[in-house]
Amino acid sequence: MTDGTSIKHIAFIMDGNGRWAKKRHMPREFGHKAGSETFENIVNYCYDIGIGAITVYAFSTENWKRPQKEIEAIFSLFSFYIDHYVEKIGKRNVRIIFIGDRSPFSAELVRRMENVEEKTSKNERILYVGINYGARAEICAAVNGLIAEGKTNVTEEDISARVYTHLSPDPDLIVRTGGEYRLSNFLLWQSAYSELYITDTLWPDMTGDDVDKAVEEFKRRNRRYGGL
Ligand code: IPE
Ligand code: IPE
Ligand code: MG
Repeated sequence: MTDGTSIKHIAFIMDGNGRWAKKRHMPREFGHKAGSETFENIVNYCYDIGIGAITVYAFSTENWKRPQKEIEAIFSLFSFYIDHYVEKIGKRNVRIIFIGDRSPFSAELVRRMENVEEKTSKNERILYVGINYGARAEICAAVNGLIAEGKTNVTEEDISARVYTHLSPDPDLIVRTGGEYRLSNFLLWQSAYSELYITDTLWPDMTGDDVDKAVEEFKRRNRRYGGL
């Protein structure tokens, strides 16, 4: 177990569930189920090593392109987790905040999401869960909010104060499992100076040891922010 306190905010692109299932000759949905269990383990592990804020990418604004059957399976897991969050994760002093565009969701789903956010709102640690999240949409929403307030000139601070993760510093480290070297529309504004760590490990196989490796690698990085 490494010390993770040098990281204030870690983010995960939880990729590779489908390939994990395919390797086992199982349907992709089986990989999402396994991935949801990994999610819980990894989130708990990160809090245990002292990281105070976590963002996970669960469903992107582009993931609607997938077959209906797979989308339904992902949302059915999400639906299960909403109540589970309060029961298990919220009890660990974790505040849950869902990030993304809720407008396509049913009123009932939105109400349940708000209920979790409300019930955990006094907790100190933060977990941002990206569901129908897209960074470009997030930036547009921030700017549109500023226009609605009557602003005609927008600063970097204005946008930073309006992105979904504004309660936390920008992520220090973004971990992507599944080996793809891209951000796939994740935290584009907040990642300006994030360290990136990409592993071939498929998300359902991710363990605390893999988190340790990412954190150790992070500690060896020289963050210059454009300086010397
Ligand atoms: C990530 O795993 C989870 C979601 C995008 C919902 P994938 O489903 O993208 O798995 P691969 O990349 O096809 O293996
Ligand atoms: C990114 O994974 C989105 C999530 C992990 C939720 P994708 O599998 O959708 O990304 P691409 O399509 O490989 O870029
Ligand atoms: Mg993928």
